[in-house]
Amino acid sequence: MTFHMDFFIAFLTCAAVTLVLPNWPPPPTRLKYEWIDQFTVNVSWEKPRGVQDGSEVTYKYRLVKNGEDVTCTTVRNFTVPCLTEETDSDGYTYNVWTDSSPNCRSSTGESTRVNITVKYLKSRAKVVKDFKCVIHGNETDCSWIPVDPSLKLNLSYRMCGCSEEVLKSLKKCHELHRNETRTGCHLKVNAIKGDICILVETDAAMSTFIAEPEVPSPKMSVREVGDHLKLSWKPPEVGKQCTWLYDVCYTHCSYPEVSCHHSLEVAYNNRCLYQIRSSVKTDIYCKKISSGFSEVVPYGSNKPPDRTLTVVAIVVPIILSVCVLLSCYCFRRHSAIICPTIPDPSAIFKEMMMNGNKDLKTPGSLYTPVPEPIESFRITQITENSGLQQNV
Ligand SMILES: *[C@@H]1O[C@H](CO)[C@@H](O)[C@H](O)[C@H]1NC(C)=O
Ligand SMILES: *[C@@H]1O[C@H](CO)[C@@H](O)[C@H](O)[C@H]1NC(C)=O
Ligand SMILES: *[C@@H]1O[C@H](CO)[C@@H](O)[C@H](O)[C@H]1NC(C)=O
Ligand SMILES: *[C@@H]1O[C@H](CO)[C@@H](O)[C@H](O)[C@H]1NC(C)=O
Ligand SMILES: *[C@@H]1O[C@H](CO)[C@@H](O)[C@H](O)[C@H]1NC(C)=O
Ligand SMILES: *[C@@H]1O[C@H](CO)[C@@H](O)[C@H](O)[C@H]1NC(C)=O
Repeated sequence: MTFHMDFFIAFLTCAAVTLVLPNWPPPPTRLKYEWIDQFTVNVSWEKPRGVQDGSEVTYKYRLVKNGEDVTCTTVRNFTVPCLTEETDSDGYTYNVWTDSSPNCRSSTGESTRVNITVKYLKSRAKVVKDFKCVIHGNETDCSWIPVDPSLKLNLSYRMCGCSEEVLKSLKKCHELHRNETRTGCHLKVNAIKGDICILVETDAAMSTFIAEPEVPSPKMSVREVGDHLKLSWKPPEVGKQCTWLYDVCYTHCSYPEVSCHHSLEVAYNNRCLYQIRSSVKTDIYCKKISSGFSEVVPYGSNKPPDRTLTVVAIVVPIILSVCVLLSCYCFRRHSAIICPTIPDPSAIFKEMMMNGNKDLKTPGSLYTPVPEPIESFRITQITENSGLQQNV
């Protein structure tokens, strides 16, 4: 009887769930991870409860990190690189969930997300700083500054990737060379072929990251052509198929360094010492590789600035004014010879003034009008009868 009752309740629950949530598939189960090597992790899970073997279910997963894409898969595992220097946290967290739609297009037929956090094999720590690699043909020279020089450390490397061939190629640096500041190692990998993954570990901590190799800075030649300096380089040995772009920085005379720009020539002032350095990088169509800056290449020399114009502008007017002054002086001194009758204008003026004053002082010379001769007229009454002749 109780068996029948239990069965009936279970049946009812199933029916209710099916009715209420017809499209929500159950999430994946028993998530686990396994480190394949120190760079690579394999995350796997089992089928959701209730899904029959053989029936198609698709899964989605995503690294919990801003901007990470969702990946869709039909298999129940994925293998990914997990490098300590690529995150800020103590591990990588993945969301994994089931999608009931056939092409992973659905956003409604999805299960809840189950999460798994991948912990590193050793505690994550920055073991080295200023890690630099320089490519020399099919080998790569790397060197670094140990964060704690008293700790022993091992360095291993391989090309990055998850293919079986790459996973098997992990190599260890057996010969580390040291000086006071840096430790180095020759890596037997060709950095042009791909990224190099580096593992540095001490007893307690580890650091994994991708090396950013450089090429040696190419030698620059400088040639003077007209009022320009033409710059040319011997291209790097590696990356023959790549287009290399050169950046140039320089100082001239006492000017501060001009900002570096992509250029093959520099305007040239031949009274200046030019101090030029350059670097090279691949264009966007090649694997990103650049060089550090070259040594400074000097060209030309500083000469005192050209003062001719200044001399002309200052000295000539002085000479001219001295000449004018001198000639005036000479003229005054020898005016009797050169121009004997030239009167002194001031004397003339003074004389005029004096004369004017004198005239004013003599009252006798006041204007007296000359008496005009007076003619006397006699107006006679003309009688109406007399003729005109009488008047003449
Ligand atoms: C990852 O783990 C799954 C389940 O354990 C296994 O089937 C698969 O082969 C592993 N993948 C690799 C690349 O080791
Ligand atoms: C793990 O993934 C591989 C392909 O990457 C696949 O061939 C294999 O069957 C998967 N294993 C499981 C248990 O899903
Ligand atoms: C898994 O993480 C997501 C956020 O990334 C969160 O929304 C969800 O509730 C988590 N699931 C579980 C079962 O903790
Ligand atoms: C590197 O190249 C040289 C010739 O340039 C060759 O002799 C040597 O075997 C190569 N080494 C590797 C590891 O491929
Ligand atoms: C130490 O070695 C590095 C290369 O490994 C080199 O660049 C540096 O100049 C060296 N320093 C001294 C002080 O020799
Ligand atoms: C370095 O490698 C050697 C030999 O493989 C090993 O014995 C030693 O424990 C390693 N040291 C560290 C700090 O990993």
